[in-house]
Amino acid sequence: MIDISFTAAARPEDGNGLSAVLLCHGAEFAQGAVFRQHDEALGGALSRAVSLRDFSGKAGQTLSLTAPSAAVAQFHLLGCAPADDEPQSAGTAARSAGGEAVKLLKASGVEAQDAALLLEAGQAPLAAEIALGAQLGSYRFDRYRTVSSRTPALQALHVVLPDAGQLAEARAGWKELEGLGRSVFLTRDLVNEPANVLFPEEFAQRIKELESLGLEVEVLDRARMEELGFGALLGVAQGSEKPPFTVIMRHRGVAGTDSAPLAFIGKGVTFDSGGISIKPAAGMDEMKMDMGGAAAVVGVMSALARRKAPVNAVGVVGLVENMVSGAAQRPGDIVKSHSGQTIEVLNTDAEGRLVLADLLSYTRQTFEPALMVNLATLTGAIVVALGSDHAGLFSNDDQLASALAQAGEESGETLWRMPMGASYNRRIDSDIADMKNIGGRPGSSILAAEFLKRFVGDTPWAHLDIAGTAWAEQASAITPKGASGFGVRLLDRFVRLHQERTSRH
Ligand code: BES
Ligand code: MN
Ligand code: ZN
Repeated sequence: MIDISFTAAARPEDGNGLSAVLLCHGAEFAQGAVFRQHDEALGGALSRAVSLRDFSGKAGQTLSLTAPSAAVAQFHLLGCAPADDEPQSAGTAARSAGGEAVKLLKASGVEAQDAALLLEAGQAPLAAEIALGAQLGSYRFDRYRTVSSRTPALQALHVVLPDAGQLAEARAGWKELEGLGRSVFLTRDLVNEPANVLFPEEFAQRIKELESLGLEVEVLDRARMEELGFGALLGVAQGSEKPPFTVIMRHRGVAGTDSAPLAFIGKGVTFDSGGISIKPAAGMDEMKMDMGGAAAVVGVMSALARRKAPVNAVGVVGLVENMVSGAAQRPGDIVKSHSGQTIEVLNTDAEGRLVLADLLSYTRQTFEPALMVNLATLTGAIVVALGSDHAGLFSNDDQLASALAQAGEESGETLWRMPMGASYNRRIDSDIADMKNIGGRPGSSILAAEFLKRFVGDTPWAHLDIAGTAWAEQASAITPKGASGFGVRLLDRFVRLHQERTSRH
């Protein structure tokens, strides 16, 4: 992981060839004190270059100088003013700029193992967010490369503030955000792992390791789940050689009270073949990411523990593999869920909702949470509806929904609320059981949400369908191709908002 530090001046030992990136926020960049200072030190090279080239400080623009002086190996200007037609929160723009800076340094050819990121005074309040973007953008999953083919990774980034008075704030901000970044990496690693490595037991083992952060971890095995009546989850698991687990993580951040926890619940299907209702071969490999909801729950619990968040929270993940075998669940089977309600399984590929059904009613009954938020790569239809720019948000509670949507805007992990209603709900009534697990293609993401709703009672609840956002087909400034870690920053932000709101009265 890239080592990020904050300083108040370009380092004196830079004779060996400093690489620097200066963030330029819009057309006024040339009036910035830091720009002027470096332009002068480089004998006017920066302003000469700017006058010859089209550079106006807009996001996406770059201007690079190689060896502009004996002490400087490379000096890059990086535009970071968001386009007018693409409004972003200040934090989102800051994180993108940090991520782009790292990309620029890596792509610039000159070995930049150690580089400086120069900020103007006005950017200093966002220094920690910029650093988070740099950290997130530097992520690589190369555990399985035996030959390293690429340029050496950037090892250290010095974020340089013009004013020493701004250092303490930036360092304090980074102290909190660095743990968030590490938690996003944990989630990405879990999602990127192939399913032959990360099966339910291994996943449970990796969660167990988080006890070192102060989380309490409890593992329910198959026998315990049978006792508890998890018939829906166990039906999904029965075709696999790999035994299923439910894992519970507790973070107690409110000393000496049993104040009702926030509950986060995740779908952890370590591989989804579809079961007997088997999926087509093309793209089936992607279904190793069908545990992205569970991985996000693990990530957010890790983030809360790392920053010792003053809230009580519980994370519950259901870890199963959905496979085909002589023991597999058949279309038409009827299972009894933890809630007592019976389910006719008409399609074994609609398995995520079966896993979540037991987790939701168990969590509600066991922890009496203040609210429940579940995350799941639940439906292909949400990918068709929203693509990868928003996750689907479904909720029985307007206040909860708007708090989540706000956290989405601030974190850049954005949500779009979808409708629900009784007429959708009726479509999953079964002829011979309490409900069926599918109800036809039209609006099928909503039907999945209506199914979950039957297990939450009157607890304020939201369901985030992250099927389109958990995996990045295309790299962005802060997310390389592959697992995005979606949901960790969103829910960490949501918890902060919730804290602020509840501490007001
Ligand atoms: N895990 C899939 C949903 C999914 C699709 C996740 C694409 C990520 C990318 C889920 O278990 C599933 O198979 N859903 C079915 C439901 C259908 C059978 C009602 C779907 O969306 O096709
Ligand atoms: Mn499926
Ligand atoms: Zn699935």
